[in-house]
Amino acid sequence: MTPDAPIGIFDSGIGGLTVAHAIATRLPHERLVYFGDTAHLPYGDKSEAAIQAYSIRIADVLLQKNCKVIVIACNSASSAAYELLKEYVRHQAKVINVIDPMVEYVAKHHAHQKVGLIGTKRTVLSNVYQRKLEERHSTVDLHALATPLLAPMIEEGFSNSRISHDLIDQYLSDDTLSEIRALVLACTHYPLIKQEVRDYFQGNVDILDSSEVVAQALDQYLTQQSLKSPAQGTPGHEFLVSDYTDSFEASTKIFFGEHVHLTRHPLWARE
Ligand code: DGL
Repeated sequence: MTPDAPIGIFDSGIGGLTVAHAIATRLPHERLVYFGDTAHLPYGDKSEAAIQAYSIRIADVLLQKNCKVIVIACNSASSAAYELLKEYVRHQAKVINVIDPMVEYVAKHHAHQKVGLIGTKRTVLSNVYQRKLEERHSTVDLHALATPLLAPMIEEGFSNSRISHDLIDQYLSDDTLSEIRALVLACTHYPLIKQEVRDYFQGNVDILDSSEVVAQALDQYLTQQSLKSPAQGTPGHEFLVSDYTDSFEASTKIFFGEHVHLTRHPLWARE
């Protein structure tokens, strides 16, 4: 691991770009290699074994690019594959997930409160947030709801539309989320509908997305380990996708500018 090595980031699609963008804003001299596994999205409906297999292949790609850190910018993959990936990668790179920094934040700022959580089926079924909060003896009263149609809707570019308003209304009016004080967006796609979610609750509920806290955790790690990039100026980031999609390209350009170029990189030879 050397300071001038890039930071690898992956997700099933555009969701992780919300994390990548927060990282690029906080750490502007770090070079990023982003992998969007568009051939296999949505991850949220896949088995744990399938997500583990995708994550290992992506880690191989990012390790070949010599990444010093691998950020799992996806809650579904963080819940299904973080422990395995840490074992697999070992000393070759640091692995950071999107769940631990958020658990820490919620435990600190929302003790004794009813907090809601929305995420994919994989994330919600894993119970990972509850488990990690319990491990910390946290007093947060967490209530989780699976909202499986949101990530595909966002990936297809249907945010801020009648469809998204109706779907968000339908999900958020579920009893599970009644009288919450804060809502964890436990899917990295959801910051893209953060304003719509905020509007639904008319500003009465804190909407928590993990991009900032993850960027902060990464910054802290790089500083502690003296691994911050010595480069000056804006680095050229690299964007890889397992399958090319127009919506992925359009979203990448919104976050990182018109010059962005996508490279197709299938995970398996037959794809
Ligand atoms: N953005 C991802 C997450 O945080 C995955 C969504 C999906 O592919 O289902 O869970």
